[in-house]
Amino acid sequence: MNAASPVCPVLGQWRSRAEAALETRLPPAHVVPEKLHAAMRYAVLGGGKRVRPALCYATGSLLGIPLDWVDDAACAVEFIHAYSLVHDDLPAMDDDDLRRGRPTTHRAFDEATAILAGDALQCLAFELLSRPLTDGPTAAQQLRQIRTLSRACGSLGMAGGQAMDLAVSAGQIDERQLETIHRQKTGALICAAVRLAADLALPEDAPAYAGLDRCAAALGLAFQIRDDILDLTADTATLGKRQGADLAHDKATYPQLMGLAAAQQCAAQLHQQALDELAPFGAAADPLRALADELLNRHC
Ligand code: IPE
Ligand code: IPE
Ligand code: MG
Ligand code: MG
Ligand code: MG
Repeated sequence: MNAASPVCPVLGQWRSRAEAALETRLPPAHVVPEKLHAAMRYAVLGGGKRVRPALCYATGSLLGIPLDWVDDAACAVEFIHAYSLVHDDLPAMDDDDLRRGRPTTHRAFDEATAILAGDALQCLAFELLSRPLTDGPTAAQQLRQIRTLSRACGSLGMAGGQAMDLAVSAGQIDERQLETIHRQKTGALICAAVRLAADLALPEDAPAYAGLDRCAAALGLAFQIRDDILDLTADTATLGKRQGADLAHDKATYPQLMGLAAAQQCAAQLHQQALDELAPFGAAADPLRALADELLNRHC
């Protein structure tokens, strides 16, 4: 993925903005307990495509929200994402030793520290969304965001999707069941990234809110299908995580279920659905369109 895409240079700026915002919102590594704080910083900083913060900023910009009102939400969703990756890599889950081109957090530290780093990142996300502000989202808007994010990462969202992912092996489920898993384990947080910005500008029953939500849901499912495809077709150095891990762990994936070409076609159709949902927003949605294109065409 090209962070400084010439098609939409603003995406590169938003990624840099996210890097800086994440860094300042993490506890410094010298604060006690140092090892836990070092592990939290390791899990979040130094890699990652920052897809969820970019989605948050792109939606905020589309809706005319000041970017500094969006920073906390962009960081909150990335903290939840980073926690989900730390736990996803644990021996009890996918048992992976490479992430973002480096040892996974439990390998670089130890399992107990990785579990706690994930726990603490989750709490930090909600602390950010609930802090008193003089210039920023109102308390009512923050409460809405907290509800959005907590639903997205709970048992009917990411954690539930992960539970279902772990409960099945390749060959045990059909396409409808796999779609549900992917929509929850990955799609829910992608949707939350968009909703967290929309929560600051649109009522929940606004047609524009529903349109953005359908766009994000299509992107989220396509994102996980692309992740499944890359596990087969990319190489470990480019991916920054072990290629072939899904096959090795007998994971249910789109290419395993329907074949590579059909999985690619499915992702392309979802990408088109997402673009169709953006049509009413005109040129203001160009960064979201560019992001959608990046997500479909990415190689890591
Ligand atoms: C990887 O997410 C896990 C999935 C949900 C597919 P990303 O591909 O966004 O991972 P980073 O943040 O760029 O490392
Ligand atoms: C991970 O899906 C989804 C979450 C972390 C919630 P994967 O297990 O496919 O992600 P990777 O391939 O390890 O990044
Ligand atoms: Mg997994
Ligand atoms: Mg995994
Ligand atoms: Mg994967």
